[in-house]
Amino acid sequence: MSVHKKVEAKRVTTHTLQEMKDVGEKIAMLTAYDYSMARILDAGGADVLLVGDSASNVMAGHETTLPITLDQMIYHASSVVRAVQRALVVVDLPFGTYQGDSKMALKSAIRIMKESGGHAVKLEGGSEVEDSIKRILSAGIPVMGHLGLTPQSIYKFGTYTVRAKQEQEARRLMKDAKLLEELGCFAVVLEKIPADLARKVSESISIPTIGIGGGSDCDGQVLVTHDLLGITKDFHPRFLRRYAELFDVIQDATERYVNDVKSKDFPNEKEQY
Ligand code: KIV
Repeated sequence: MSVHKKVEAKRVTTHTLQEMKDVGEKIAMLTAYDYSMARILDAGGADVLLVGDSASNVMAGHETTLPITLDQMIYHASSVVRAVQRALVVVDLPFGTYQGDSKMALKSAIRIMKESGGHAVKLEGGSEVEDSIKRILSAGIPVMGHLGLTPQSIYKFGTYTVRAKQEQEARRLMKDAKLLEELGCFAVVLEKIPADLARKVSESISIPTIGIGGGSDCDGQVLVTHDLLGITKDFHPRFLRRYAELFDVIQDATERYVNDVKSKDFPNEKEQY
């Protein structure tokens, strides 16, 4: 029987996550975009809720994460913050709000913190966004990094395939992970990279790594909640484990309701005033 060490925390902070890594307790992170779902995920014990820019795909139906705006991210994040009692709420800086201009990056991060009440921000990239990370951190705003598959750069890479399989890209990723640690990021997401590389990164840096398609040796895992619950349907990457098939459950409930309305079975006498 394996013994799990557990860090007790009424509210999860960036320090709690570091303690978890230090004692070997895995970090469980999920995406959240709205109040009702965030309440359930928080009650279920998720340590971190990520208000991901995947809201662009999942909530708005866009093909990529690029169209979502800062105002829309703030709307989603403030809904999640109102729901949460324990989890740390991390909010994605959307595309175009932090790259290439560190002053704009700081303004964007401050808007997220002030207007949504989120606890930290996440942004994609390594050395190319160093100045933005430094400036945001200088204002006391915690930053989570994101390396490997970075969906905001999809048009640069052209595909959503596994990243850093070649030696040169793997070396660069390792260098970027060390840079994020040195700059003072509190954690880093490793998306869709070989498990062996994710293990080496996780062993080489002191801050927690959170994997999505990064294998079991990352310090934590993240999944898009709608994928895990089977609300999204035709998406079957190897790294995804589905814990429910809610598309089918909700479709079935909808069909039964429609049927009951049409057949005049609903509402019955007890369901009216
Ligand atoms: O936006 C998002 O959901 C993410 C996760 C996939 C890490 O960045």
